[in-house]
Amino acid sequence: MDFHGGLFFTGIITILIVQYGTNVVLVEGRHHLHTSKKHKSGESSKIADSPVYNAPSPDSSSSSSDCPPPSDDDAPADDPASPPEASDPGNSTTSPCIFNVVDFGAVGDGSTDDTAAFRAAWKEACQAQSSVLLAPSNYVFLITSTIFSGPCQPGLVFQVDGDLMAPNGPDCWPKGDSLQQWLVFYRLNDMTLTGTGTIEGNGQPWWDLPCKPHKGPHGSTLPGPCDSPALIRFFLSSNLVVSGLRIQNSPKFHMKFDGCEGVIIDRLSISSPKLSPNTDGIHIENTKSVGIYNSVIANGDDCISIGPGCANVDIESVTCGPSHGISIGSLGVHNSQACVSNITVRNAIIKESDNGVRIKTWQGGTGSVTGISFDNIQMDNVRNCVIIDQYYCLTKACRNETSAVYLSDVSFRNIKGTYDVRSPPIHFACSDTVACTNITMSEVELLPFEGELVDDPFCWNAYGIQETLTIPPIDCLLDGFPETVGESSLYECH
Ligand SMILES: *[C@@H]1O[C@H](CO)[C@@H](O)[C@H](O)[C@H]1NC(C)=O
Ligand SMILES: *[C@@H]1O[C@H](CO)[C@@H](O)[C@H](O)[C@H]1NC(C)=O
Ligand SMILES: *[C@@H]1O[C@H](CO)[C@@H](O)[C@H](O)[C@H]1NC(C)=O
Ligand SMILES: *[C@@H]1O[C@H](CO)[C@@H](O)[C@H](O)[C@H]1NC(C)=O
Repeated sequence: MDFHGGLFFTGIITILIVQYGTNVVLVEGRHHLHTSKKHKSGESSKIADSPVYNAPSPDSSSSSSDCPPPSDDDAPADDPASPPEASDPGNSTTSPCIFNVVDFGAVGDGSTDDTAAFRAAWKEACQAQSSVLLAPSNYVFLITSTIFSGPCQPGLVFQVDGDLMAPNGPDCWPKGDSLQQWLVFYRLNDMTLTGTGTIEGNGQPWWDLPCKPHKGPHGSTLPGPCDSPALIRFFLSSNLVVSGLRIQNSPKFHMKFDGCEGVIIDRLSISSPKLSPNTDGIHIENTKSVGIYNSVIANGDDCISIGPGCANVDIESVTCGPSHGISIGSLGVHNSQACVSNITVRNAIIKESDNGVRIKTWQGGTGSVTGISFDNIQMDNVRNCVIIDQYYCLTKACRNETSAVYLSDVSFRNIKGTYDVRSPPIHFACSDTVACTNITMSEVELLPFEGELVDDPFCWNAYGIQETLTIPPIDCLLDGFPETVGESSLYECH
């Protein structure tokens, strides 16, 4: 994501701390609204620490092994006005158990609050193995901020075939609901979020808040709290699949994964307008073993952003644009340690974007970014097609510091297409004290989309090789390795 002011930034940091610090409390607080107080807070922290699935204690009411769908007696009376689809929730003869939210009282008319029905359906689906929570097609379900929390039985599928909609902006957001997030999936293992439907964030009223860039009176940006919810967040979960859905108009990040391991994202369509602030498509942090495939993302900020603590990320066949490109970072803020390794991006198209492929770090961080490969990326009218920025700063007044996140083993291969001449297509601004090392350039050929060639590639303290001649030519890449890259213990990651 890009930040738009120091105040705003401080806010973000506070939010992160609050999120991490109080998440368990939030969940437990929500939990007791609709279930009995089964979990004690000590138990939650134990489970949160364990990546392994913990079976919930057997519940006499509903978790039988053959898992019958909820009987009509338990469900509220059918609304005679509801569409006939209500009685045809899917192929229930072959699926082991489907928990259709309509059977739990969801109305799906786009204005009734269906949150309670989703919670009730979740509670039952969670306890049955390989169950499906179904939000059927031809309905529009409005639900408020909800934490779908586990642990659940493995194989749970949250299937959205209809529309699932967030309340329409801050005025409709229930007081007391989290302003950081709308749907949260928490403490789950082996879970799928899929469907043929649309998840609608109704982001416009959030983007228009007077605290958002140039949305105040006369194009100003007013200070003050500016919280906007991420649309879908996965937290402390493992073995996740997210596929097939259309996700649009998020107030802030569309999807965010933190503290997860084993994530497959496939065939998503994410879309928000070009000028929607901070609407990153997919953001991951402290998350390992991630595959992002066959997806199309158009938004107002980073298409995909990779934060600290990520490793083994494979991105293939993704189209971005308009967007701010695929970004590693920002890393090392407030002198923090950041470790990112083994990231591959292949066969991507980036169009009409403010950046192409980017690594950005703050001055003063520690840790390293290593083993990064960008291969076969087509650029269409992109500013800053290839950029390393180790002087990332929001206020233009950041001091140069003596440490930095160390970058090495970064390759750019087969990167072709056109750039927007307002900025040079290749820019390697490495830290003064900690050089970037082993940058490989191979078949990087970039031409102006329109206008004059910008024959002004920039490198500072960047070491590496060109396997083929780069277009535009860069002669600023330094040969070999620097004598020292500073205090090496600062840059170790484990
Ligand atoms: C359910 O699926 C089975 C096998 O895929 C198929 O034979 C059957 O016709 C389906 N039933 C309905 C009601 O769609
Ligand atoms: C790098 O990540 C890929 C997944 O993207 C994984 O298959 C591979 O084993 C990782 N390599 C190392 C050295 O960890
Ligand atoms: C920081 O270092 C860079 C590279 O040497 C230099 O261009 C820039 O002016 C410095 N900034 C400050 C604020 O000293
Ligand atoms: C340079 O980086 C490449 C990966 O881009 C790696 O395969 C190679 O071993 C590195 N070379 C050195 C000397 O570290």
